[in-house]
Amino acid sequence: MEPARRRSERKPPVAHPAPLTAPSTDAVRHHDPEVRGFASDNYAGVHPEVLAAIALANGGHQVSYGDDEYTAHLQEIFRRHFGPRAEAYPVFNGTGANVTALQSVTERWGAVICAASAHINTDECGAPERVGGLKLLTVTTPDGKLTPELIDLEARGFDDEHRAQPQVVSITQTTELGTCYTPAEIRAICDHAHERGLTVHLDGSRIANAAATLGVPLAAFTTDAGVDILSFGGTKNGLLLGECVVVLSPERVRAMKHLRKLSMQLASKMRFVSVQFEALLAGDLWLRSARHANAMAQRLEAAVRGIAGVTVVRPVQANAVFALLPREVSERLQKRYRFYFWDESTAEVRWMCAFDTTEDDVDSFAAALAEEMAHPITS
Ligand SMILES: Cc1ncc(COP(=O)(O)O)c(C=O)c1O
Repeated sequence: MEPARRRSERKPPVAHPAPLTAPSTDAVRHHDPEVRGFASDNYAGVHPEVLAAIALANGGHQVSYGDDEYTAHLQEIFRRHFGPRAEAYPVFNGTGANVTALQSVTERWGAVICAASAHINTDECGAPERVGGLKLLTVTTPDGKLTPELIDLEARGFDDEHRAQPQVVSITQTTELGTCYTPAEIRAICDHAHERGLTVHLDGSRIANAAATLGVPLAAFTTDAGVDILSFGGTKNGLLLGECVVVLSPERVRAMKHLRKLSMQLASKMRFVSVQFEALLAGDLWLRSARHANAMAQRLEAAVRGIAGVTVVRPVQANAVFALLPREVSERLQKRYRFYFWDESTAEVRWMCAFDTTEDDVDSFAAALAEEMAHPITS
């Protein structure tokens, strides 16, 4: 029998960590929180409701790598939006979501048909090819949108051992050119793709903006239209970081959980990604924020259309405005507001609105543009 310990030999009580409520920090604010531009919806900060949700999930311990209560609850939330078969896999970013999703629906000899302007082709540093090992078959489009006819330019050579085998069609909603597919257009693409044995992936980096434009539930142009797997965007709609791969046709998808880890997209502290999506999707924050960003783009379009010499060159169907104006004017305006040239060769510019863009931001920007247009062009 263990001899009873003398009082002085007893272990000291376990010291509890300092409470996490202490508001002080050594960090210094390095920017002016009142300054906003039109460069990207990623330039915006985190929606306050999302930040509050992160704080709510903080403290205490939860199982890591997605076996936590927040991620479990998230499944139910995604099923509410996308139907009972939906499975959500939170990841860090949109490139990771796309590469992970596309790998899960292709074989080693498989290829992905996409618009030449698709983010997977133009802005992912070759990650689909190099990380995912995927061949992209690109199609030039007038407006960023694929159609059954355009898909058929590359949906060919089946069974030809010399050709990478088309296995997936990837579309972006809303597109990189600010346009929005209707549910009927997506339904036609999915029917056409499925008839040819192809799976449909949707890059939904701005999926909330599309739902806001169309005025329909998210399922209307995804699950109900026949989309098989999608990358659900969170960051551009006010998350700190985080996107979700959402599987809609589980029978077409292989090994998502292994591919997510292999693709370096498995968050250990996943509860903090999941709780952000809960904040976004449990109520209507996703739609409120997207509607607002879209409305600001409409306001901006209306304001700049009245300025002589400025031409809005693409339909404004979400939160982006594309315009042509003298390069020199853009360069002067860029000293006052941040935005990018979309196409250096033509001097086309892109102006993006976000959930936090204000009416005053838009009006001041349009006024600054009018001012710069009124100055003589020197070159
Ligand atoms: C259409 C589209 N897809 C995907 C992404 C994902 O990008 P990231 O990897 O930067 O999160 C973006 C970001 O700009 C995008 O515009």
